[in-house]
Amino acid sequence: MGLEELKLKTREMAAEMNAVILAHNYQRPEIQDVADFVGDSLDLAMKAYRTKADYILFCGVDFMAETAAVLNPDKKVLMPDVAARCPMAGMLPREAVVEAKKKHPDAAVVLYINTLAEAKAEADIVCTSANALRVVKAQPNRKILFGPDENLAYFVQKHLPEKKIIPVPAHGFCVVHKSMLLKGEFDLMKAEHPDAVIFAHPECNPDVQDMADFVLSTNGMVEKARELPNKEFIIGTEQGLAYRLRKENPGKKFYVVDTAVCVNMKKHTLEKAYNALRDRKPMITVPENIAEKVRIATERMLNLTI
Ligand code: 13P
Ligand code: SF4
Repeated sequence: MGLEELKLKTREMAAEMNAVILAHNYQRPEIQDVADFVGDSLDLAMKAYRTKADYILFCGVDFMAETAAVLNPDKKVLMPDVAARCPMAGMLPREAVVEAKKKHPDAAVVLYINTLAEAKAEADIVCTSANALRVVKAQPNRKILFGPDENLAYFVQKHLPEKKIIPVPAHGFCVVHKSMLLKGEFDLMKAEHPDAVIFAHPECNPDVQDMADFVLSTNGMVEKARELPNKEFIIGTEQGLAYRLRKENPGKKFYVVDTAVCVNMKKHTLEKAYNALRDRKPMITVPENIAEKVRIATERMLNLTI
C-alpha cells in the first residue's frame, strides 16, 4: 500500500473507532500529517485531558503516553511502538527521588514530564519545558528538587535566582540535545547565516542556551517563528520539528542539525500507527495506585497552565 493510501486508511480507521491521534512535534512527517493534533508535551497533555474520544493513539515516547493514560482512566491509550522510550525519563528511578526527599525535606519536588510514572508519583507537581519557570515560581519553597534534566535545571536556576534548584539525579540529560546539538554546530550555522534568529530548547547545554536569542519548548518555537518578522531561523532541537515549521511558514527558512535525531521518537511509523488502531494494541496502562498520585501532580500543573 502506498503512503497516501495508508494515510487515508489510518484516518478512516480513527474516525470509525472514535480515536484521536496525538503526535509530538518530532514525529515523522507522515505521522504529523494524519494526526488530529501535533504539539509539544504540554499541548498534547492538555489535548489528552480534554478529549472526548474513546481511544487515544499517542505517537510520542513512553512518558507522554503514560501521561495520557493517567489523565484518562476511562479511555484506551494506544502507542504504535512500545519500544519508543525516552532514555532521559529512564534516568530517574523512584528510589532516587525518595532519597533526595529524605535529604531535603524542606524542598518542593518538581519533576519534568519526561519522567516515568513510578518516579513521578513522588512529585508535588509536574512541569514541561513550556511552563517550568511558571511552575517552579509558583512553589512556596525556596528549595526545589528538580529532575531529571540538568540542562533544564540550569535554565530554571538562571531565570529564578531566588530559588535553590537541586538537580536529581545530578546529571540527567537528553542524548539528542546534550550530545548532538553542540555549540560548534551553532557557531558554524550562525557564521553561514548571520541574520538567522537562534532558538534553543532548554534541554540544550548551557553554552548553547546562552548564545540563543530565545530558549523555548518546541511549541514555543512554532509560535515564535510565526510571530517574528524574521525570515531565517536556526533551530536548536530535534530535526523533526523542521517539517512543521516549514509547512506552517513557507516563506521562511529553517536550519537544523540533520544528525540530531531522537531514534525513539522515530520508532513510530505510519504502518505501526495503522496497525495499532486496527488491532487495538499495544495499549499503555499505569497501575491505579501510581496513576492516582501522578494524576494529582499533573493536574496541579495543568491547573496552573490552563
Ligand atoms: P517539548 O515539550 O518542548 O516538545 O519537549 C519534549 C522533549 O522530549 C524534548 O526533547
Ligand atoms: Fe527524550 Fe531527548 Fe528524545 Fe526528547 S529528544 S524524547 S528528551 S531522548
